[in-house]
Amino acid sequence: MSSQKPAKSPLLILKKGEALQTVSTKNSITSLLSSHDGTEIIHQILKSGARWGMSPDDDHINLLESVYILSGKMKLHTTKEETLLVPGDIIAGQPVSEHLVLTAVEDSEFLYTSSRPVFHHYFSDTKELELLAIDIEKKDGYTAEHCTRIKHLSMLVGESMGLNSVSLQKLHFGAILHDIGKIKVPESILLKPGKLTEEEWKVMKNHTQFGADILLKTNIPHLILASEVVAQHHERYDGSGYPKGLEKEQICLEAAIVGLVDSYDAITSDRVYQKGRTKDSAISEIKQLRAIKYHPDVVDTFLSILESN
Ligand SMILES: [Fe+2]
Ligand SMILES: [Fe+2]
Repeated sequence: MSSQKPAKSPLLILKKGEALQTVSTKNSITSLLSSHDGTEIIHQILKSGARWGMSPDDDHINLLESVYILSGKMKLHTTKEETLLVPGDIIAGQPVSEHLVLTAVEDSEFLYTSSRPVFHHYFSDTKELELLAIDIEKKDGYTAEHCTRIKHLSMLVGESMGLNSVSLQKLHFGAILHDIGKIKVPESILLKPGKLTEEEWKVMKNHTQFGADILLKTNIPHLILASEVVAQHHERYDGSGYPKGLEKEQICLEAAIVGLVDSYDAITSDRVYQKGRTKDSAISEIKQLRAIKYHPDVVDTFLSILESN
């Protein structure tokens, strides 16, 4: 019997700047450099202030994941502490057993190696949803910056309230994707210039649960985590929100943050058929609704951030 060796594939040479596949957003470029037998090497560029996360995956317990910092400076948040990472530093988990968030303190680059294929399932799928979320906001009359602003302000509030890395990851994706469920709301309702009928309003309110279902179906841990934020971002502190009329601590803190930041941005944004109000007018409305519609601690932190900006 003759045993045949598998044919060897030719040596792959990628010159600087080349990649097998690249996914870019305004603040990040993710490039797949090499992929074979389940192992992937990914090059990541993050602009100053951008974030990147890793989550534990219970389905893959025999896994290596590592991050090797090439340039810049990054802050690593774990559930317990924060560490500053500089070029030459490496973090590795076999596998990663907790949620990690990396924040670029300045423009940074790193190599991410994983012994399972993650590029498509995790990165490009997540980025596609993010781009979809931005498209929906545009349809809804906002500019493309609405999602970015909500994510940025929500994360400032979350960090200043001392949320751990699990919560920060949940908040990050919940903030960007809060209205993703509007993709399932018919355009005749979403784009209706006049007042919605009671029946139409019922459909509109469903965007919270539609969005949570979209994220749950991805089977991606950080999106499953964020689904609660998406489901609850219109719940209000006094129980007057939707879809469930949850109140106070029944609403997760991350959703309370996104709910407030989203309202603030909605009040102050110029929409297609409506001019935004001033920052001062929005602030005085939020102060009046502290501990009524909005979580008091979230309001206090948010207002102190607005003052210092
Ligand atoms: Fe919404
Ligand atoms: Fe929104």
